[in-house]
Amino acid sequence: MYNLTDRQIVLGVSGSIAAYKAADLASKLTQAGVRLDVLLTPAAVEFVTPLTFQSLSGRPAYVDMFDTSSAAAELHIELARRAEALLIAPASATTIARVALGLAEDMISLTALATRAPIIVCPAMDPQMFEHEATQGHLETLRGRGAHVVGPEVGRLASGHTGPGRMSEVDTIIGALRYVLGRGGDLGGKKVVVSAGGTQEPIDPVRYFGNYSSGKMGYALAEAARDRGADVVLVSGPAALPHPYAVRLLSVRRAAEMRDAVLDECAAADAVIMAAAVADYQPAEAVGQKIKRRREGLSLSLVRTPDILAELGQREGLVKVGFAAESEELLANARRKLEEKGLDLIVANDVTAEGCGFGSDTNKVILLDGQSEEELPLLDKYEVAARVLDRVAALVRR
Ligand code: PMT
Repeated sequence: MYNLTDRQIVLGVSGSIAAYKAADLASKLTQAGVRLDVLLTPAAVEFVTPLTFQSLSGRPAYVDMFDTSSAAAELHIELARRAEALLIAPASATTIARVALGLAEDMISLTALATRAPIIVCPAMDPQMFEHEATQGHLETLRGRGAHVVGPEVGRLASGHTGPGRMSEVDTIIGALRYVLGRGGDLGGKKVVVSAGGTQEPIDPVRYFGNYSSGKMGYALAEAARDRGADVVLVSGPAALPHPYAVRLLSVRRAAEMRDAVLDECAAADAVIMAAAVADYQPAEAVGQKIKRRREGLSLSLVRTPDILAELGQREGLVKVGFAAESEELLANARRKLEEKGLDLIVANDVTAEGCGFGSDTNKVILLDGQSEEELPLLDKYEVAARVLDRVAALVRR
């Protein structure tokens, strides 16, 4: 699980039916350790209550900037000053207009004017309002000033209309926040290529050779690299996982396609991390029609797939990290792969151990380089990714 402990975030909730989703957003951010200050416009209070957010964040939520009984009026400057990011979700057409025009008419627009922290705007409104040139113009103004506009998604809206206007999913918004907070991290300005998932090698038009990789380990690495500032390209086999925000996703199917994408992207990369379970063999020839169930047995002739890591060779300035998925002789096999594939680091992964390897949310690995062995405890895959990236960041700097 990503960690946002003690990050100082201000969440602005404006008047939209999507305000109910902001409660989930506030809950998830608080669980991730954020010190969350919530501001609501008077219109937002028509949909949700300050008490909802106060209960979720454990801190006061502010609405009325003229309320003499609260410290809100002076506080906006303090909130604006200490905020590491101002997240406006949902952002109604009115709030977007106020922030773009610099009108300090409520707690959100006031704070937006006072802060120098990055602003993330998550529009939510009916398609006609979103598409109106006034709204589009205001969003352009905000983008021009460096704000991040996240969404909206296209879909069915509460009004019954369909079109662009649904607020982005909470996890996407949190991805955007992590991206914004991570800029300037220790992988800032570095390009990292990550591979994830399993490849599928077609046998005939309806069958393939595959494996149990879910993509979770590779996606965690991609997100963790993005969270520390890297420019990330994720080359993924088929995986039922959401596209991580601000990560360039290249979807592939076969080992040969993964090879082409990885080699291409690595030409200008600083590091490559191959977490994908790449098929070692593929059918010698593709069968054009579905194989019929007529014979008792069936033999297929297989040939080796390209070894992507080996083909990358050695290039000055490219850090190469592999994984070794093993069911026996973990360290001996991992060490052999480290040498044969010319790697800087290998992540030895006993995929038969409890809570490890394919499909699980956790993993237990040993990090091996030419000199040392570092055994990690059973960790969430994001934490494993963070530990791998500690090593990658050090190697890239060297
Ligand atoms: O996706 P999950 O469900 O989260 O599961 C994660 C995982 C178990 C897939 C992952 O942790 C893992 O161990 N990935 C490596 C799987 C693998 O193919 O290991 P290997 O020991 O067969 O290959 C060694 C290395 O060479 C790997 O980095 C692999 O990506 C790479 N390789 C393999 C074959 C090939 N043709 N070209 C390669 O570059």
